[in-house]
Amino acid sequence: MSPDLRQSLVAAAVAARGLAYAPYSSFQVGAALWTASGKLFVGCNVENASYGLTQCAERVAVANAVAAGQRDFAWLALASAGGVMPCGACRQVLVEFCEDLPILLIDADRANQVVEVRLRDLLPGRFVLPGD
Ligand code: THU
Repeated sequence: MSPDLRQSLVAAAVAARGLAYAPYSSFQVGAALWTASGKLFVGCNVENASYGLTQCAERVAVANAVAAGQRDFAWLALASAGGVMPCGACRQVLVEFCEDLPILLIDADRANQVVEVRLRDLLPGRFVLPGD
């Protein structure tokens, strides 16, 4: 990935984080998904008074991409305070579409410092239906 694209993805995730609806946890997350065909989809967390209905930023971005006919994910950028890892549920949803997605973890508390990880390392032993 070019430095320019990397910077654009980071900026998109940070901007999406600014749209998070997180009045219950006050923990805002932004996600930017880049597809192999060069399209960008973003997501933010969307919380609810019925806490369990909360949607994570990553899964909102995945839903936006899939609903636009795009499933060929090439990169994910994730912005939060502390640059947290994707939760287990989001890892399982992401791996459905990309076996080894590279992920940029952006720490909004530290001038958007980036750490790169790979989904394969974060999710050994993914769930697979018997026979698949
Ligand atoms: N959250 C995400 O958006 N992505 C994750 O991978 C983990 C957690 C959100 C859900 C909730 O709104 C807030 O962070 C605190 O858990």
